[in-house]
Amino acid sequence: TSSAMAEERALAMVTCTAPVNIAVIKYWGKRDNDLILPINSSLSVTLHQDQLKTTTTAAASRDFTEDRLWLNGEEADVGHPRLQACLREVRRLARKRRGGSAEDAAPLSLSYKIHVATENNFPTAAGLASSAAGYACLVSALARLYGVEGELSEVARRGSGSACRSMLGGFVQWQRGERPDGRDSLAHQVAPETHWPELRVLVLVVSGEKKQVASTAGMQTSVDTSPLLKHRAEVVVPERLALMMRHIRERDFEGFGQLTMQDSNQFHATCLDTFPPIFYLNDLSRHIIALAHRFNAHHGRTKVAYTFDAGPNAVIFTLADTVAEFVEVVRRSFPPATNGDQFVRGLPVGSASLPEELLAAVDPAPAAPNPSPAPQPGPGPQLVDDPSQHLLGADGLPRRCA
Ligand code: DP6
Repeated sequence: TSSAMAEERALAMVTCTAPVNIAVIKYWGKRDNDLILPINSSLSVTLHQDQLKTTTTAAASRDFTEDRLWLNGEEADVGHPRLQACLREVRRLARKRRGGSAEDAAPLSLSYKIHVATENNFPTAAGLASSAAGYACLVSALARLYGVEGELSEVARRGSGSACRSMLGGFVQWQRGERPDGRDSLAHQVAPETHWPELRVLVLVVSGEKKQVASTAGMQTSVDTSPLLKHRAEVVVPERLALMMRHIRERDFEGFGQLTMQDSNQFHATCLDTFPPIFYLNDLSRHIIALAHRFNAHHGRTKVAYTFDAGPNAVIFTLADTVAEFVEVVRRSFPPATNGDQFVRGLPVGSASLPEELLAAVDPAPAAPNPSPAPQPGPGPQLVDDPSQHLLGADGLPRRCA
């Protein structure tokens, strides 16, 4: 009946998952810190959620007395300005939507307090884009909770710049936009995840430690001090974006791989050009770079490509027919002495026999990286239908702590 329908719901709960994305044309530097508007456009590949994902449950209830947040089971500060900005924006969109239509059956009161629990299945703040998946997931869950649809990359951007790209699957461009209010600084899908079925992505986890310089602070110092970054944003990136889109459209792995490596290297060069300089790569990262180039030189063409974000962990792009051989090379080069067999876990690959010249080209490294595989490009955020997967119980508290 209409009176029952008009009644506000006492408790609502939604769970979503969201993917990590890896930029092949990097975002580094803001022109507006509050709205999170970048100095250049960027382009990324959304990774499949089988291996790397964030899960977030958002609940609203008239019985909650305060907003609360749990990150990987630990209660965290809900007052974080970026989190508050996302919450405010989703509520604003909900209000706007309700104002526009009368047929909203059971509106969830926007004045209810919310509880949010979020979990990553990979190391937080290790340069593995955990904030991107985290904010994309938060915004997706809140939007579902309040029944908001449509353009949400703008809201996710307010949490973390790179998060706007995790709102879509496949190959995604974040357009810098021109407007001072940021309304045109949005993510767009360049190609869906099905566009390039042979493409594979391997994550070589060199270190799960928290990074030295957070990207937000690091990129601000770069904007303030690096002339190379200014040149990159104004001249280099616009040219590279057009080229990268063509390589993706044509599924040209050599072009895609080379440009991916060059753009990662230029990003780390701007870090060195920052004053005081920022170092995200370590010896093991550099060993992986050298290994990739030797592997490609052996084959006489680009068969693997590395890229590094604000941390030492490597992301490797390659094609399906090269995965087994390259993993075997990594295995030989980095004996899994320190982490047992961990680094092959989950990899759907057989072993490959290696030619002698290739083996000779590979120097054993002192310590083993810990590859965690993310086999293919994947889709954007997903709604989790099964209520048993909620991270919060019926009382609105984290299930695991209860
Ligand atoms: C190196 O999106 O983490 O990963 O907008 O300040 O939250 P904020 O920064 P963030 O920066 C990511 C930088 C990067 C490159 C990229 O993902 O494009």
